[in-house]
Amino acid sequence: MQTVKYTFQPHGDDRGQLVALEEMKDIPFRIKRVYYMYDTGEGVVRGKHAHKSLQQILICIHGSCKISLDNGKEKKVIPLEKPYEGLYVSNTMWREMFDFSPDAVLMVLASELYDESDYIRDYDEFLKYVEQCGSEASGVEVSD
Ligand code: TYD
Repeated sequence: MQTVKYTFQPHGDDRGQLVALEEMKDIPFRIKRVYYMYDTGEGVVRGKHAHKSLQQILICIHGSCKISLDNGKEKKVIPLEKPYEGLYVSNTMWREMFDFSPDAVLMVLASELYDESDYIRDYDEFLKYVEQCGSEASGVEVSD
């Protein structure tokens, strides 16, 4: 399974590092919402859902965590441990976030406002949905 991990350009100087992200330039969609998770307990697994339309970029801006992506046919686990790396998560992708370090802050840039009707929270329903859609995610093109 192909995944897209962006390496953003840090603007470093003797004061430290700065990463700037602009929609449709560094991020392949218009950013309508930003949220972040922190203080995630040991052993917690978050996510466990897919979206019908929403696209996201996940950035672990502090600490580390792992992301499991599942397109209904294959799964891949991607570690996020650098504040200048972003994982693209297309729609129709089952995602789970786990193995959070105690200091982890996972920031999500989202292409849509919060809309519960865009969620698929049942895994069997997700598999049916993917089959109906021909597993065609409408996000960015990916290649190996
Ligand atoms: P939830 O979907 O359970 O998070 P995760 O996918 O990380 O497991 O969301 C947790 C709570 O936050 C839930 O009550 C819904 C709320 N929420 C918002 O109000 N706005 C948002 O943008 C998101 C992502 C969640």
